[in-house]
Amino acid sequence: MSYQVPSYQAKLVGVFGCPVAENPTIVMQEAAFRALGLHWRYLNIEVRAEQLADAMRGLRAFNMAGINLTIPHKVTVLPYLDGLSAEAALIGAVNTVVREGERLIGHNTDGKGFVRSVQEDAGIHPSGQRVVFLGAGGAARAMAVEMALAGAASITIVNRTADRGQPLVDLLRRQTPAQAEFALWDGPFVVPAETDILVNATSIGLFPRVEDAPAVALDSIRPGLLVCDVIPNPPKTAFLAAAAARGARTLDGLGMLVNQGAIAFRLWTGRDAPLAVMRQALEEVFSA
Ligand SMILES: NC(=O)c1ccc[n+]([C@@H]2O[C@H](COP(=O)([O-])OP(=O)(O)OC[C@H]3O[C@@H](n4cnc5c(N)ncnc54)[C@H](OP(=O)(O)O)[C@@H]3O)[C@@H](O)[C@H]2O)c1
Repeated sequence: MSYQVPSYQAKLVGVFGCPVAENPTIVMQEAAFRALGLHWRYLNIEVRAEQLADAMRGLRAFNMAGINLTIPHKVTVLPYLDGLSAEAALIGAVNTVVREGERLIGHNTDGKGFVRSVQEDAGIHPSGQRVVFLGAGGAARAMAVEMALAGAASITIVNRTADRGQPLVDLLRRQTPAQAEFALWDGPFVVPAETDILVNATSIGLFPRVEDAPAVALDSIRPGLLVCDVIPNPPKTAFLAAAAARGARTLDGLGMLVNQGAIAFRLWTGRDAPLAVMRQALEEVFSA
């Protein structure tokens, strides 16, 4: 008779951020681990900006399998990594680190999560699409780069200053085949008639300011336009509700959140993520 020695040692992943207490990714990742019977744990770890170097040493010391990064670490983590995926290098920011032996490799799954949601949830391939992004922050940068690499014909970046908008347009022109232009956002934005996909990539409408919506001339939203929101909470934002009332198709930010998490899950575990389980876990959090 053989006796199997049990292992009580879980594989560890998690998120470094500040603040991090309310970050809900733990809920979908732990639900996915349970669904696949994996002995993995996801931890929300508060790391202040000045503690990132120590935290990255801790990641190695605890032999963690990887980590997610959120505000304020997505860019400042770069010096602590041994390599980057080609897309993370282009975007210049990392939201997922994967440990490969002694090497820490940085990825960015935000934009890929959005592209996958557009393809799988909305049923639209990015190829040839004319896309307008409201906002030019980290999320817009990741989404715009990935949509351009996936074949979008044109990308318009709309922002209230050129400080962040123009460098993103320059990057898209230099490094991707898409046409790119900047538009100053100094009043209700009039959506160009030829637009296929309009994306709110700002934080406007995020809980608890659920009544807020980005300044867009609603009469320029036409039936058939795909209107997307990066805000996952609430999934049905005031902006998406207004667009739907104009006859537009809508895509919520929950799909992007689930898909970026599913891509990180696959990078860490090597297993396909249970998407439906992850989405349901988050929906329960956001409807509580
Ligand atoms: N669903 C997902 O998976 C997912 C993933 C990542 C992020 N997100 C969400 O995406 C949102 C943006 O994140 P981020 O990292 O890109 O933030 P960020 O780097 O701070 O950028 C925010 C952008 O929104 C613009 N903005 C903010 N308030 C505005 C206002 N009142 N009027 C006009 N523009 C405004 C900013 O313009 P300025 O440049 O002029 O300041 C900037 O372009 C957050 O709510 C985040 O939770 C969702």
